[in-house]
Amino acid sequence: MRVLDEALAEEYALVESIAREVLRGYGFREFRTPIVERTELFVRSVGESTDIVGKEMYTFEDRAGRSMTLRPEGTAPVVRAVVERGLRNTRLPLKLFYIGPFFRYERPQKGRYRQFHQIGAELIGDARPEADLEVIQVLVEFLSACGFSGLEVALQTLGDDDSRSRFRAALLGHLEPVRESLSAESQARLASNPLRILDSKADADRAAVADAPSMETFLSESARVHFERLQELLQDAGIAYRVEPGLVRGLDYYTGTVFEISSADLGSQDALVGGGRYDNLVAELGGPPTPAIGFAIGLDRVCEAMPESATSDQPRVAILALSDAAEARAAETARALRRAGLVAELANMTSGVGKSLQLADRRGSGWAVLIGDDELADGLWSVKNLASGEQQSVGDLSALVELIQEGSLKP
Ligand code: HAM
Repeated sequence: MRVLDEALAEEYALVESIAREVLRGYGFREFRTPIVERTELFVRSVGESTDIVGKEMYTFEDRAGRSMTLRPEGTAPVVRAVVERGLRNTRLPLKLFYIGPFFRYERPQKGRYRQFHQIGAELIGDARPEADLEVIQVLVEFLSACGFSGLEVALQTLGDDDSRSRFRAALLGHLEPVRESLSAESQARLASNPLRILDSKADADRAAVADAPSMETFLSESARVHFERLQELLQDAGIAYRVEPGLVRGLDYYTGTVFEISSADLGSQDALVGGGRYDNLVAELGGPPTPAIGFAIGLDRVCEAMPESATSDQPRVAILALSDAAEARAAETARALRRAGLVAELANMTSGVGKSLQLADRRGSGWAVLIGDDELADGLWSVKNLASGEQQSVGDLSALVELIQEGSLKP
Protein backbone atom coordinates (compact mmCIF):
# COMPACT_ATOMS: atom_id res chain seq x y z
CA MET A 1 0.00 0.00 0.00
CA ARG A 2 1.48 3.29 -1.14
CA VAL A 3 1.55 6.60 0.68
CA LEU A 4 0.54 9.55 -1.45
CA ASP A 5 2.82 12.30 -0.19
CA GLU A 6 1.83 15.95 -0.43
CA ALA A 7 3.15 16.36 -3.99
CA LEU A 8 1.35 13.25 -5.25
CA ALA A 9 -1.82 14.03 -3.32
CA GLU A 10 -1.94 17.47 -4.94
CA GLU A 11 -1.52 15.92 -8.37
CA TYR A 12 -4.30 13.42 -7.67
CA ALA A 13 -6.59 16.20 -6.46
CA LEU A 14 -5.91 18.19 -9.64
CA VAL A 15 -6.77 15.22 -11.86
CA GLU A 16 -9.86 14.49 -9.79
CA SER A 17 -11.04 18.07 -10.22
CA ILE A 18 -10.57 17.82 -13.99
CA ALA A 19 -12.62 14.58 -13.98
CA ARG A 20 -15.41 16.09 -11.86
CA GLU A 21 -15.69 19.06 -14.18
CA VAL A 22 -15.78 16.98 -17.38
CA LEU A 23 -18.20 14.36 -15.97
CA ARG A 24 -20.56 16.96 -14.51
CA GLY A 25 -20.60 18.70 -17.87
CA TYR A 26 -22.08 15.51 -19.35
CA GLY A 27 -24.68 15.24 -16.58
CA PHE A 28 -22.97 12.56 -14.46
CA ARG A 29 -23.47 12.94 -10.69
CA GLU A 30 -21.13 11.77 -7.95
CA PHE A 31 -21.94 8.59 -6.04
CA ARG A 32 -20.13 6.98 -3.12
CA THR A 33 -20.42 3.36 -2.09
CA PRO A 34 -18.90 1.55 0.92
CA ILE A 35 -15.28 0.39 0.75
CA VAL A 36 -16.32 -3.01 2.16
CA GLU A 37 -18.97 -5.23 0.58
CA ARG A 38 -20.23 -8.77 0.98
CA THR A 39 -17.80 -11.09 -0.85
CA GLU A 40 -20.68 -12.71 -2.67
CA LEU A 41 -21.38 -9.50 -4.60
CA PHE A 42 -18.05 -9.72 -6.46
CA VAL A 43 -18.19 -13.48 -6.87
CA ARG A 44 -21.57 -13.15 -8.59
CA SER A 45 -20.75 -10.13 -10.77
CA VAL A 46 -17.01 -10.04 -11.53
CA GLY A 47 -17.08 -13.85 -11.72
CA GLU A 48 -15.59 -16.81 -9.93
CA SER A 49 -13.18 -17.71 -12.74
CA THR A 50 -11.58 -14.25 -12.98
CA ASP A 51 -8.15 -13.36 -11.57
CA ILE A 52 -9.78 -10.69 -9.43
CA VAL A 53 -12.08 -13.07 -7.58
CA GLY A 54 -9.77 -16.08 -7.79
CA LYS A 55 -6.63 -14.56 -6.35
CA GLU A 56 -6.73 -10.81 -5.86
CA MET A 57 -9.40 -9.99 -3.30
CA TYR A 58 -8.80 -8.85 0.26
CA THR A 59 -11.39 -11.03 1.95
CA PHE A 60 -12.01 -11.48 5.66
CA GLU A 61 -14.67 -12.62 8.07
CA ASP A 62 -16.36 -9.94 10.12
CA ARG A 63 -17.35 -10.41 13.75
CA ALA A 64 -20.69 -11.89 12.73
CA GLY A 65 -18.94 -14.54 10.62
CA ARG A 66 -19.89 -12.98 7.25
CA SER A 67 -17.37 -13.02 4.41
CA MET A 68 -16.53 -9.40 3.51
CA THR A 69 -14.24 -7.98 0.80
CA LEU A 70 -12.45 -4.67 0.24
CA ARG A 71 -13.95 -3.55 -3.08
CA PRO A 72 -11.73 -4.56 -6.02
CA GLU A 73 -13.83 -2.52 -8.47
CA GLY A 74 -16.76 -0.10 -8.50
CA THR A 75 -19.37 -1.28 -10.97
CA ALA A 76 -20.90 -4.07 -8.87
CA PRO A 77 -21.19 -1.86 -5.76
CA VAL A 78 -22.89 0.92 -7.76
CA VAL A 79 -25.32 -1.52 -9.35
CA ARG A 80 -26.04 -3.17 -6.00
CA ALA A 81 -26.77 0.22 -4.45
CA VAL A 82 -29.07 1.46 -7.21
CA VAL A 83 -30.92 -1.88 -7.32
CA GLU A 84 -31.46 -1.77 -3.54
CA ARG A 85 -32.71 1.80 -3.77
CA GLY A 86 -35.28 0.63 -6.32
CA LEU A 87 -34.61 1.21 -9.98
CA ARG A 88 -38.26 1.02 -10.98
CA ASN A 89 -38.95 4.49 -9.59
CA THR A 90 -35.85 6.02 -11.12
CA ARG A 91 -35.88 8.17 -14.21
CA LEU A 92 -33.42 6.54 -16.60
CA PRO A 93 -30.72 6.85 -17.71
CA LEU A 94 -28.94 7.13 -14.41
CA LYS A 95 -25.52 8.73 -14.86
CA LEU A 96 -23.22 8.27 -11.90
CA PHE A 97 -19.52 8.64 -11.22
CA TYR A 98 -17.24 7.71 -8.34
CA ILE A 99 -13.70 8.45 -7.25
CA GLY A 100 -11.86 6.49 -4.59
CA PRO A 101 -9.59 3.66 -3.47
CA PHE A 102 -9.90 0.05 -4.64
CA PHE A 103 -7.97 -3.05 -3.58
CA ARG A 104 -6.45 -5.93 -5.50
CA TYR A 105 -3.77 -8.29 -4.28
CA GLU A 106 -1.57 -7.99 -7.37
CA ARG A 107 2.20 -8.04 -7.64
CA PRO A 108 3.10 -4.38 -7.00
CA GLN A 109 5.08 -2.64 -9.76
CA LYS A 110 5.03 0.68 -11.62
CA GLY A 111 1.38 1.56 -12.27
CA ARG A 112 0.11 -1.43 -10.30
CA TYR A 113 -0.66 -1.16 -6.62
CA ARG A 114 -2.60 -3.15 -4.07
CA GLN A 115 -4.48 -0.04 -3.02
CA PHE A 116 -5.12 1.91 -6.19
CA HIS A 117 -7.56 4.60 -7.23
CA GLN A 118 -10.20 4.76 -9.88
CA ILE A 119 -12.41 7.41 -11.38
CA GLY A 120 -15.37 5.43 -12.67
CA ALA A 121 -18.60 6.29 -14.44
CA GLU A 122 -21.73 4.25 -15.09
CA LEU A 123 -24.51 5.09 -17.51
CA ILE A 124 -27.44 2.85 -16.56
CA GLY A 125 -30.58 2.46 -18.66
CA ASP A 126 -29.57 3.25 -22.23
CA ALA A 127 -28.99 0.45 -24.76
CA ARG A 128 -28.20 2.68 -27.75
CA PRO A 129 -24.77 2.91 -29.40
CA GLU A 130 -25.08 6.66 -28.69
CA ALA A 131 -24.64 5.80 -25.00
CA ASP A 132 -21.43 3.90 -25.88
CA LEU A 133 -20.23 6.95 -27.79
CA GLU A 134 -21.05 9.24 -24.87
CA VAL A 135 -18.93 7.34 -22.33
CA ILE A 136 -16.01 7.06 -24.75
CA GLN A 137 -16.34 10.76 -25.55
CA VAL A 138 -16.25 11.70 -21.84
CA LEU A 139 -13.08 9.65 -21.50
CA VAL A 140 -11.34 11.19 -24.47
CA GLU A 141 -12.29 14.66 -23.28
CA PHE A 142 -10.99 13.95 -19.79
CA LEU A 143 -7.68 12.53 -21.05
CA SER A 144 -7.22 15.47 -23.43
CA ALA A 145 -7.88 17.90 -20.56
CA CYS A 146 -5.10 16.08 -18.65
CA GLY A 147 -2.74 16.84 -21.54
CA PHE A 148 -2.68 13.44 -23.28
CA SER A 149 -2.59 13.39 -27.04
CA GLY A 150 -2.42 10.73 -29.72
CA LEU A 151 -4.53 8.27 -27.75
CA GLU A 152 -6.36 5.48 -29.51
CA VAL A 153 -9.34 3.54 -28.18
CA ALA A 154 -9.01 -0.25 -28.47
CA LEU A 155 -12.50 -1.51 -29.20
CA GLN A 156 -14.24 -4.85 -29.44
CA THR A 157 -17.67 -6.34 -29.05
CA LEU A 158 -18.43 -9.47 -27.08
CA GLY A 159 -21.80 -9.65 -28.84
CA ASP A 160 -25.10 -10.48 -27.17
CA ASP A 161 -25.71 -13.68 -25.16
CA ASP A 162 -26.54 -15.66 -28.25
CA SER A 163 -23.48 -14.51 -30.25
CA ARG A 164 -21.25 -15.19 -27.28
CA SER A 165 -22.43 -18.74 -26.62
CA ARG A 166 -22.00 -19.68 -30.29
CA PHE A 167 -18.53 -18.11 -30.34
CA ARG A 168 -17.61 -19.87 -27.12
CA ALA A 169 -18.62 -23.25 -28.59
CA ALA A 170 -16.56 -22.61 -31.74
CA LEU A 171 -13.56 -21.49 -29.70
CA LEU A 172 -13.75 -24.64 -27.57
CA GLY A 173 -13.96 -26.72 -30.75
CA HIS A 174 -10.72 -25.07 -31.88
CA LEU A 175 -8.83 -25.25 -28.58
CA GLU A 176 -9.87 -28.63 -27.15
CA PRO A 177 -7.82 -30.61 -29.71
CA VAL A 178 -4.69 -28.61 -28.75
CA ARG A 179 -5.47 -28.60 -25.02
CA GLU A 180 -2.10 -30.17 -24.15
CA SER A 181 -0.15 -27.35 -25.79
CA LEU A 182 -1.88 -24.65 -23.73
CA SER A 183 -0.50 -23.09 -20.54
CA ALA A 184 -1.81 -24.63 -17.30
CA GLU A 185 -3.84 -21.48 -16.65
CA SER A 186 -5.50 -21.63 -20.06
CA GLN A 187 -6.24 -25.33 -19.70
CA ALA A 188 -8.19 -24.47 -16.56
CA ARG A 189 -9.94 -21.66 -18.42
CA LEU A 190 -11.22 -24.03 -21.09
CA ALA A 191 -13.85 -25.08 -18.59
CA SER A 192 -14.46 -21.77 -16.84
CA ASN A 193 -13.94 -18.93 -19.31
CA PRO A 194 -12.36 -19.85 -22.67
CA LEU A 195 -12.69 -16.29 -24.05
CA ARG A 196 -9.99 -15.15 -21.63
CA ILE A 197 -7.50 -17.44 -23.40
CA LEU A 198 -7.67 -14.94 -26.27
CA ASP A 199 -5.76 -12.32 -24.30
CA SER A 200 -3.30 -14.68 -22.65
CA LYS A 201 0.29 -13.44 -22.87
CA ALA A 202 1.83 -16.97 -22.74
CA ASP A 203 3.65 -17.97 -25.97
CA ALA A 204 2.05 -21.42 -26.01
CA ASP A 205 -1.42 -19.83 -25.92
CA ARG A 206 -0.61 -17.15 -28.48
CA ALA A 207 0.28 -19.84 -31.01
CA ALA A 208 -2.95 -21.74 -30.32
CA VAL A 209 -5.22 -18.70 -30.66
CA ALA A 210 -3.44 -17.26 -33.72
CA ASP A 211 -5.82 -19.02 -36.12
CA ALA A 212 -8.78 -19.29 -33.74
CA PRO A 213 -12.24 -18.35 -35.04
CA SER A 214 -13.07 -14.66 -34.59
CA MET A 215 -16.01 -13.19 -32.70
CA GLU A 216 -17.00 -11.18 -35.73
CA THR A 217 -18.31 -14.22 -37.65
CA PHE A 218 -20.61 -15.18 -34.76
CA LEU A 219 -22.24 -11.81 -34.18
CA SER A 220 -26.03 -11.77 -34.33
CA GLU A 221 -27.56 -9.21 -36.69
CA SER A 222 -28.48 -6.80 -33.88
CA ALA A 223 -25.05 -7.05 -32.23
CA ARG A 224 -23.37 -6.38 -35.57
CA VAL A 225 -25.59 -3.37 -36.33
CA HIS A 226 -24.90 -1.92 -32.86
CA PHE A 227 -21.14 -2.29 -33.26
CA GLU A 228 -21.09 -0.85 -36.78
CA ARG A 229 -23.22 2.12 -35.71
CA LEU A 230 -20.85 2.81 -32.79
CA GLN A 231 -17.91 2.87 -35.20
CA GLU A 232 -19.72 5.34 -37.46
CA LEU A 233 -20.47 7.54 -34.46
CA LEU A 234 -16.83 7.45 -33.36
CA GLN A 235 -15.69 8.41 -36.85
CA ASP A 236 -18.18 11.30 -36.96
CA ALA A 237 -16.93 12.47 -33.57
CA GLY A 238 -13.31 12.30 -34.79
CA ILE A 239 -12.29 9.77 -32.13
CA ALA A 240 -9.44 7.46 -33.16
CA TYR A 241 -10.07 3.78 -32.47
CA ARG A 242 -8.96 0.37 -33.64
CA VAL A 243 -10.91 -2.86 -33.43
CA GLU A 244 -8.88 -5.28 -31.33
CA PRO A 245 -10.04 -8.89 -31.68
CA GLY A 246 -8.10 -10.09 -28.61
CA LEU A 247 -9.69 -7.57 -26.25
CA VAL A 248 -11.87 -9.50 -23.81
CA ARG A 249 -11.43 -7.72 -20.44
CA GLY A 250 -10.91 -9.47 -17.14
CA LEU A 251 -14.39 -9.23 -15.62
CA ASP A 252 -17.27 -11.58 -16.38
CA TYR A 253 -20.15 -9.11 -16.40
CA TYR A 254 -19.32 -7.64 -19.81
CA THR A 255 -21.64 -8.01 -22.80
CA GLY A 256 -21.38 -6.19 -26.15
CA THR A 257 -19.03 -3.23 -26.50
CA VAL A 258 -15.77 -3.32 -24.54
CA PHE A 259 -12.86 -0.88 -24.75
CA GLU A 260 -9.52 0.08 -23.25
CA ILE A 261 -7.15 3.00 -23.67
CA SER A 262 -3.42 2.52 -23.08
CA SER A 263 -0.60 5.02 -23.07
CA ALA A 264 2.85 4.46 -24.50
CA ASP A 265 4.09 6.81 -21.74
CA LEU A 266 3.53 4.12 -19.13
CA GLY A 267 6.12 1.89 -20.77
CA SER A 268 3.92 -1.17 -20.36
CA GLN A 269 0.83 -2.62 -21.92
CA ASP A 270 -1.22 -1.81 -18.84
CA ALA A 271 -4.38 0.09 -19.67
CA LEU A 272 -5.09 3.59 -18.36
CA VAL A 273 -8.80 2.99 -18.72
CA GLY A 274 -11.11 0.03 -19.20
CA GLY A 275 -14.81 -0.32 -19.66
CA GLY A 276 -17.73 -1.70 -21.53
CA ARG A 277 -21.36 -2.77 -21.55
CA TYR A 278 -22.85 -4.95 -18.86
CA ASP A 279 -26.42 -5.36 -20.05
CA ASN A 280 -27.21 -8.34 -17.78
CA LEU A 281 -25.72 -7.20 -14.48
CA VAL A 282 -28.62 -5.12 -13.15
CA ALA A 283 -31.00 -8.07 -13.59
CA GLU A 284 -28.44 -10.53 -12.19
CA LEU A 285 -28.23 -8.43 -9.02
CA GLY A 286 -32.00 -8.43 -8.61
CA GLY A 287 -33.14 -5.39 -10.59
CA PRO A 288 -35.34 -5.16 -13.68
CA PRO A 289 -33.55 -5.97 -16.97
CA THR A 290 -31.64 -2.75 -17.65
CA PRO A 291 -28.83 -2.17 -20.14
CA ALA A 292 -25.76 -0.28 -18.92
CA ILE A 293 -22.26 0.80 -19.86
CA GLY A 294 -19.38 2.34 -17.95
CA PHE A 295 -15.65 2.71 -17.50
CA ALA A 296 -13.01 3.13 -14.85
CA ILE A 297 -9.90 5.26 -15.19
CA GLY A 298 -6.81 4.15 -13.29
CA LEU A 299 -6.05 7.40 -11.48
CA ASP A 300 -2.57 6.24 -10.39
CA ARG A 301 -1.66 5.36 -13.96
CA VAL A 302 -3.02 8.64 -15.33
CA CYS A 303 -0.92 10.60 -12.82
CA GLU A 304 2.18 8.58 -13.69
CA ALA A 305 1.78 8.91 -17.45
CA MET A 306 0.47 12.47 -17.53
CA PRO A 307 2.51 15.05 -19.41
CA GLU A 308 4.35 17.37 -16.97
CA SER A 309 2.81 20.56 -18.31
CA ALA A 310 -0.65 19.61 -17.06
CA THR A 311 0.47 19.50 -13.43
CA SER A 312 0.89 23.24 -13.00
CA ASP A 313 1.37 24.63 -9.52
CA GLN A 314 -0.49 27.57 -8.04
CA PRO A 315 1.90 30.50 -7.42
CA ARG A 316 3.24 30.52 -3.85
CA VAL A 317 3.84 33.68 -1.87
CA ALA A 318 5.49 34.29 1.51
CA ILE A 319 4.19 37.28 3.50
CA LEU A 320 6.69 38.95 5.83
CA ALA A 321 5.55 41.29 8.62
CA LEU A 322 8.65 43.39 9.34
CA SER A 323 7.25 44.84 12.59
CA ASP A 324 4.63 43.91 15.16
CA ALA A 325 2.45 46.73 13.90
CA ALA A 326 2.46 45.17 10.40
CA GLU A 327 1.16 41.76 11.50
CA ALA A 328 -2.54 42.49 11.14
CA ARG A 329 -2.04 43.86 7.63
CA ALA A 330 0.15 40.87 6.71
CA ALA A 331 -2.60 38.46 7.82
CA GLU A 332 -5.20 40.43 5.91
CA THR A 333 -3.00 40.42 2.79
CA ALA A 334 -2.52 36.66 3.03
CA ARG A 335 -6.28 36.13 3.20
CA ALA A 336 -6.84 38.34 0.16
CA LEU A 337 -4.17 36.51 -1.87
CA ARG A 338 -5.66 33.10 -0.95
CA ARG A 339 -9.10 34.28 -2.05
CA ALA A 340 -7.52 35.14 -5.40
CA GLY A 341 -6.34 31.53 -5.74
CA LEU A 342 -2.71 31.91 -4.65
CA VAL A 343 -0.96 29.94 -1.93
CA ALA A 344 -0.01 32.49 0.74
CA GLU A 345 2.02 31.64 3.85
CA LEU A 346 2.83 34.00 6.74
CA ALA A 347 6.57 33.79 7.38
CA ASN A 348 7.95 32.97 10.81
CA MET A 349 10.06 36.10 11.48
CA THR A 350 11.92 34.90 14.60
CA SER A 351 15.18 34.34 12.66
CA GLY A 352 15.14 37.66 10.80
CA VAL A 353 14.31 38.87 7.29
CA GLY A 354 17.25 37.28 5.45
CA LYS A 355 16.59 33.79 6.85
CA SER A 356 12.84 34.11 6.21
CA LEU A 357 13.46 34.98 2.57
CA GLN A 358 15.86 32.05 2.19
CA LEU A 359 13.38 29.66 3.75
CA ALA A 360 10.55 30.96 1.57
CA ASP A 361 12.69 30.34 -1.51
CA ARG A 362 13.50 26.80 -0.37
CA ARG A 363 9.82 26.10 0.29
CA GLY A 364 9.09 26.92 -3.34
CA SER A 365 7.69 30.43 -2.95
CA GLY A 366 8.38 32.43 -6.06
CA TRP A 367 7.49 35.66 -4.29
CA ALA A 368 7.74 37.49 -0.99
CA VAL A 369 5.51 40.37 0.07
CA LEU A 370 7.15 42.59 2.68
CA ILE A 371 5.15 44.85 4.97
CA GLY A 372 6.99 47.14 7.42
CA ASP A 373 6.31 50.50 9.01
CA ASP A 374 7.02 52.37 5.75
CA GLU A 375 4.55 50.24 3.79
CA LEU A 376 1.96 50.71 6.56
CA ALA A 377 2.42 54.48 6.55
CA ASP A 378 2.24 54.76 2.74
CA GLY A 379 -0.48 52.09 2.18
CA LEU A 380 1.87 50.05 -0.07
CA TRP A 381 3.16 46.48 -0.44
CA SER A 382 6.78 45.68 -1.35
CA VAL A 383 7.00 42.61 -3.59
CA LYS A 384 10.18 40.67 -4.20
CA ASN A 385 10.71 38.14 -6.96
CA LEU A 386 12.75 35.51 -5.13
CA ALA A 387 14.30 34.09 -8.28
CA SER A 388 15.61 37.40 -9.70
CA GLY A 389 15.87 39.38 -6.46
CA GLU A 390 14.03 42.34 -8.06
CA GLN A 391 11.72 44.29 -5.79
CA GLN A 392 9.03 46.91 -6.34
CA SER A 393 6.15 48.63 -4.58
CA VAL A 394 2.50 48.32 -5.48
CA GLY A 395 -0.37 50.44 -4.25
CA ASP A 396 -3.34 48.11 -4.32
CA LEU A 397 -4.20 44.46 -3.79
CA SER A 398 -5.52 43.73 -7.26
CA ALA A 399 -2.25 45.02 -8.76
CA LEU A 400 -0.37 42.78 -6.32
CA VAL A 401 -2.36 39.70 -7.37
CA GLU A 402 -1.96 40.53 -11.04
CA LEU A 403 1.77 41.00 -10.71
CA ILE A 404 2.24 37.63 -9.02
CA GLN A 405 -0.10 35.79 -11.38
CA GLU A 406 1.56 37.23 -14.44
CA GLY A 407 4.89 36.25 -12.98
CA SER A 408 6.91 39.32 -13.98
CA LEU A 409 8.00 42.51 -12.28
CA LYS A 410 7.46 45.57 -14.42
CA PRO A 411 10.17 48.20 -14.41
P1 HAM B 1 -10.58 -2.69 -14.83
O1 HAM B 1 -10.10 -2.77 -16.21
O2 HAM B 1 -10.40 -3.89 -13.95
O3 HAM B 1 -12.12 -2.31 -14.92
O4 HAM B 1 -9.92 -1.46 -14.12
C1 HAM B 1 -9.95 -0.17 -14.71
C2 HAM B 1 -8.64 0.53 -14.59
O5 HAM B 1 -8.21 0.55 -13.22
C3 HAM B 1 -7.48 -0.18 -15.29
O6 HAM B 1 -7.45 0.17 -16.66
C4 HAM B 1 -6.27 0.39 -14.57
O7 HAM B 1 -5.91 1.66 -15.10
C5 HAM B 1 -6.80 0.57 -13.17
N1 HAM B 1 -6.31 -0.51 -12.29
C6 HAM B 1 -6.80 -1.75 -12.13
N2 HAM B 1 -6.06 -2.46 -11.27
C7 HAM B 1 -5.06 -1.65 -10.84
C8 HAM B 1 -3.96 -1.76 -9.92
N3 HAM B 1 -3.74 -2.88 -9.23
N4 HAM B 1 -3.14 -0.69 -9.78
C9 HAM B 1 -3.34 0.45 -10.47
N5 HAM B 1 -4.36 0.62 -11.34
C10 HAM B 1 -5.21 -0.40 -11.52
C11 HAM B 1 -12.95 -2.14 -13.85
O8 HAM B 1 -12.58 -2.05 -12.71
C12 HAM B 1 -14.39 -1.95 -14.25
N6 HAM B 1 -15.21 -1.77 -13.03
C13 HAM B 1 -14.55 -0.77 -15.19
C14 HAM B 1 -15.97 -0.56 -15.61
C15 HAM B 1 -16.84 0.34 -15.12
N7 HAM B 1 -16.60 -1.25 -16.53
C16 HAM B 1 -17.84 -0.81 -16.62
N8 HAM B 1 -18.00 0.15 -15.75
